[in-house]
Amino acid sequence: MRLQDCHNFHDFRELARRRLPGPIFNYIDGAADDEVTYRKNTESFSKVDLVPSVLKGVREVDLSVTALGQKLALPIYCSPTALQRLFHHQGERAVAAAAAKYGTMFGVSSLGTVSLEELRQQYDNPQAYQFYFHKDRGLNRAMMQRAKEAGVNVMMLTVDSITGGNRERDLRTGFSIPFKLTLGGMIQFALKPAWGLNYLTHEKFTLPQLDEHIDMSGGALSIGRYFTEMLDPAMNWDDVAEMVREWDGEFCLKGVISAEDAATAASIGCTGVVLSNHGGRQLDGSRTAFDQLDEVLNKAGDKLDILMDGGVQRGTHVLKALSMGAKAVGIGRGYLYPLAAAGQAGVERALELMKTEIERDMRLMGARSVSELSQENLRGS
Ligand code: FNR
Ligand code: LAC
Repeated sequence: MRLQDCHNFHDFRELARRRLPGPIFNYIDGAADDEVTYRKNTESFSKVDLVPSVLKGVREVDLSVTALGQKLALPIYCSPTALQRLFHHQGERAVAAAAAKYGTMFGVSSLGTVSLEELRQQYDNPQAYQFYFHKDRGLNRAMMQRAKEAGVNVMMLTVDSITGGNRERDLRTGFSIPFKLTLGGMIQFALKPAWGLNYLTHEKFTLPQLDEHIDMSGGALSIGRYFTEMLDPAMNWDDVAEMVREWDGEFCLKGVISAEDAATAASIGCTGVVLSNHGGRQLDGSRTAFDQLDEVLNKAGDKLDILMDGGVQRGTHVLKALSMGAKAVGIGRGYLYPLAAAGQAGVERALELMKTEIERDMRLMGARSVSELSQENLRGS
């Protein structure tokens, strides 16, 4: 199986599965508890059907949107994800370059493996910085200051991860950073020597957003422990209001599900929220972002930008979210499997396929621009 054989999400996933050591594939592919929310994320798009309009004269189709003050050539963006150089040695560089090529936004995680400064200097497409709120307020201030100085366009505070989700696949394999594998996990690594060679022959693995602030040398800091020990579960609206004031720019909360919370976010000065359940990786049983869109838009859609992510695998999923009223749609695994499968070329192919699908689907819907999509085009199935 090669990159040219990948025509959709499932093909990229399969190629990633063949290339990655099991523990790493399962870290990406897995979610919390019974993974019910993870499955529901994609299923939720089937609850509504598209009602196309015909004979609309759709020779030209404009896919651009404006969200969080950023003009994007595509209505999809690469949501921030952790540890990308572990998936492919090009990591965040590949994702930023592919997003730049397609004129869209990419997010850099606090747990990213390339520095936000380097990415900012190399690419001029909109960059969001995904922030976790640490117990240490001085650390939060220093990290925000760094992002401001680097010229980050959007601050994205993740609010659904004040404690680690229960990722049972990771418990089984022993996935953590640095590696502390179970015997089974080690055997799975040994089965993928090409990945190991690549990993060992490229730049040392680091977390540049955090390395300067946190000493990670004293044993394995698992993602779960980072969340539990470093992040502040006491974070509240007053803390965030202070951050919003300090940032004084585009600021959105990632991981909102309730309409009430979206309205409160607007009242403290946030310019957007990303409806998200973190790809099903945090609270299993949580409602899906797509299912919440209507309620949240009714309550707060006129006060701030409503974006969403979770389960997006197809152009029609994007069209349904946009028709509902989302300003833009984030993808996670939809670019991570392609990254793992083939680096920058993989992410570019994934974005190209998505672009082609959205363009084709817009024509079939009779929509010349995203603004022509509305709830009029949707019916409950
Ligand atoms: C994530 N996500 C995530 N979110 C975040 O705010 N900070 C992070 O560091 C990460 N890291 C991360 C790693 C991996 C491997 C995955 C799969 C996801 C969540 C991500 O931004 C997004 O919300 C979901 O991935 C969206 O769901 P889909 O598109 O993967 O179904
Ligand atoms: C995850 C964290 C890092 O979902 O956000 O794995």
